[in-house]
Amino acid sequence: MIIVPGPASEELGRKIAELLKQKIVPIEFKRFPDGESYIRFDGEVENEDVVIVQTTSPPQNENLVQLLLMADTAKELKAKTTTAVVPYFAYARQDQRFRPGEAFSVRTMVRLLQTCGVSKIFAVNSHNPAILKTLQVSIKDLSVIPLLAEYFKNKGFSGAFSLALGKKGLATAVEANSVLEGDYGFISTKRDRITGKVTIEEKALPVKGRDVVIFDDIISSGGTMIKTVAWTCKQGARTVHVACVHPLLIGDAEDKIIKSGADSIVGTDSVPSRISVVSVAPLIAEALVKRGAKR
Ligand code: R5P
Repeated sequence: MIIVPGPASEELGRKIAELLKQKIVPIEFKRFPDGESYIRFDGEVENEDVVIVQTTSPPQNENLVQLLLMADTAKELKAKTTTAVVPYFAYARQDQRFRPGEAFSVRTMVRLLQTCGVSKIFAVNSHNPAILKTLQVSIKDLSVIPLLAEYFKNKGFSGAFSLALGKKGLATAVEANSVLEGDYGFISTKRDRITGKVTIEEKALPVKGRDVVIFDDIISSGGTMIKTVAWTCKQGARTVHVACVHPLLIGDAEDKIIKSGADSIVGTDSVPSRISVVSVAPLIAEALVKRGAKR
């Protein structure tokens, strides 16, 4: 197996290769003055099982094009198989045609990868794993929620209340609570399809006087998390901590979440950021081992 750390996930790709003790083929990368990407494999991949590691967080269009260029080039260089590790899978939130005439974006992304020779995709806490399973390429969705919960356990928050958001809220809260072993709950969220405005279900939570860790897959504008933190504080929580898988943190989202009452905010290196303190590398390495890599 050859690991190819893409320009958007260089450090993560190297960590995965190190954990697996597998060889790296680096990518020579340049951005032309007009913004186009130049990609070159600095090593042989012929007849190899190639694993490209490239997250597709913002600038997602650039990162996606780089991923497509790497995958198609690996195919042309006669790689035996090409696997794409895409920790943050861009466009995953547009997982259906909500309004007539809309693009079914995630399906288009998967089709493009397939055309470029990708036969397997690993993603981390993708927005809707059920939809991904219906698409043409084999997609394995991994969950880093236990590792995020472990982080808080090691910080002394064993027994904290695990609160999660959205459609997968209950499952996420149960998963986190299996590590933190406090109590758990979830809050439903709703996004207006036209304005994008999020509302959260303001339901009573048994958090008075307790430490609470709020889990969500994505923090983008921070709107959803700001409302949830404020609501949790209003219910009398002792401390409120935020754990997110993909810290996109657009604009001053991090600041705004802290100002809304959060005591801390933590994310993973699925999306490199200031708060990416939990690594998804062990999770991905383990999944690749299960798929047949030799340590
Ligand atoms: C929604 O379904 C996701 O789980 C996140 O809650 C959402 O994407 C966060 O977006 P924002 O930070 O812009 O509210």
